[in-house]
Amino acid sequence: MTYTIVPPQKILNPQLEIAGGHALSGEIRVSGAKNSALVLMAACLLTRDPIRLRNIPPLTDITAMGEILAALGVQVIRQGEAIELNGDHINQSTAPYELVNSLRASFFCIGPLLARTGMAKMPLPGGCQIGSRPVVEHVKGLKALGAQVTIDHGVVTAVVPGQGHRLRGGRIHLDCPSVGATETLMMAAALADGETTIDNAAQEPEVVDLAGLLIAMGARVRGAGTQTITIVGVDRLHGTDYAVIPDRIEAGTYLLAAAITRSHLRVAPVIPEHLGAVITKLEEAGCRIENDGIGLTLRADHVRAVDLRTQPFPGFPTDLQAPFMSLLATAEGTSVITENIFENRLQHVAELQRMGASIRMKGNTAFVEGVSRLSGAPVQGTDLRASAAMVLAGLAAEGITTVQGLEYLDRGYADLEGKLNGAGAAIRRTSAS
Ligand code: UD1
Repeated sequence: MTYTIVPPQKILNPQLEIAGGHALSGEIRVSGAKNSALVLMAACLLTRDPIRLRNIPPLTDITAMGEILAALGVQVIRQGEAIELNGDHINQSTAPYELVNSLRASFFCIGPLLARTGMAKMPLPGGCQIGSRPVVEHVKGLKALGAQVTIDHGVVTAVVPGQGHRLRGGRIHLDCPSVGATETLMMAAALADGETTIDNAAQEPEVVDLAGLLIAMGARVRGAGTQTITIVGVDRLHGTDYAVIPDRIEAGTYLLAAAITRSHLRVAPVIPEHLGAVITKLEEAGCRIENDGIGLTLRADHVRAVDLRTQPFPGFPTDLQAPFMSLLATAEGTSVITENIFENRLQHVAELQRMGASIRMKGNTAFVEGVSRLSGAPVQGTDLRASAAMVLAGLAAEGITTVQGLEYLDRGYADLEGKLNGAGAAIRRTSAS
C-alpha cells in the first residue's frame, strides 16, 4: 500500500483572527468540489484499473477518504491536486468504525463495495452537528437491487445472495431526493445485472459529476441531473482520468465574502449554472453579477434584505444558508430565512448575535433584521458552513473577530485564509492556547 499525503500545517488549537473592514479585490481561485471529489474517490472501488482524478482539493476530508479506501486495500497516491486510486487488490469488505464515523460521506462506499465484492460492512455514520442524517434511503435502494441488508449494533451488513454475487437492476423510488442515496445507488447499479431506475433522484451537480466519471469508466447512465436516472449495468468498468468540477459552495462563499465587504471581486473557475439560485438571490439583494462563462464578478455597494428557503438543487443550497445569513445580517431591512433540509442547521444564529446581529428565531425560520455594523467578537464555528459564515461576518465586522472550531473549516475550504488574504483580507491563523 502506498499512501502519501501532504500533512497540513500544524498549529496547536488553531483559530483565525480576522481584522474586519478590509475591502476585497482581484480574483479568488476556486478549488475542486469537495462533495464531488469524495464520491468520485469511492467510485474507484468499482474497477480493478487505476482511476486518476484531477482538481482534488487539499482538504482533511479528502485525506480521511483516502485513509478509508486504503484500509479497504486501495492503493492511494496523492500528487498535488491529482490522486491516483488503484483498487486492483481490495482485500476488505469492512470499513473501520473510527474512520467512517469521522467522515459521513465514506458510508457511500457501501454501494460500490457491495457491487464489486458481493459484500460490504459499514458502520452507520455517526450523527452530526446539523441533524440526524439517516441512511434509510440508501438501505432501501440496495434492497431493491437484491441485497440482503441487516443492521446490528450500529453496523450495516449488505450481502448479495446467490452465485456470482451480482446485484440485479431494479426500480427505486426515493422518498426524499437524498444526494448520498442517489450516488450510492448509482454506483451499486453500475455493475448490476440489468436496468435500474432511480425516481425522485437528487439533481445536484455532484450527482451529474459522478455520472460523468461512471460514463468515462464505461458505465451506461442516463438522466443524471433530472429526477429520473437510468443505469444499465455492465460486466466491468475500466480505468480513466477525470477532472472534478469546481466547488460551487466554495465559489458561493467567496461571492458572499465580496458582497459582505461591499467589494468588487472575480471568482473563478465556476460553472455558473451550478449557482443559479445563489446568483438570483444575490442580485435580488442588490449585488451586480457579471457572468463571463467561466467566472463570476460580483460588485456590491448597497445590500438589501431578501427571503431565502433552502431546497434541493436547483433550489437554494442548504450549504450556503449560514454564509448568506451573515450577509443579510448587514443588509437593509428584514430577511426571512427558512432552513428546510437539516433540522439543526441554525446554530450559527447565536454566534452571529454575539457579533451584534439582530436575529429572531421561530422553529426552522430566522428573521434577520440587518444592522449597520457587526462588531468583532470571539465566536465558535459549530459546523463547516457555520464556520465559513463566522469568517464572513468577521470580514465585515468592526474590530477583531476570532473564530474557533477550525477542525470543521479545514474539512471543506482549501486555504480559506490564504485565498481571502490574497484578495485583501487581514486574517491570521494563531494558536488559541
Ligand atoms: C449531501 C452533501 C451535503 C449537503 C447535502 C444536502 C456530501 C458529502 N454532502 O449530504 O454537503 O448539505 O447533501 O444538499 O455530498 N434524508 C432522509 N433519509 C435518508 C437520507 C436523507 O430523510 O435516508 C434527508 C436528510 O435528513 C436531509 C435530506 O434528506 O434532510 C438531505 O440529505 P442528503 O441529500 O442525503 O444529504 P447528504 O447526501 O448526506
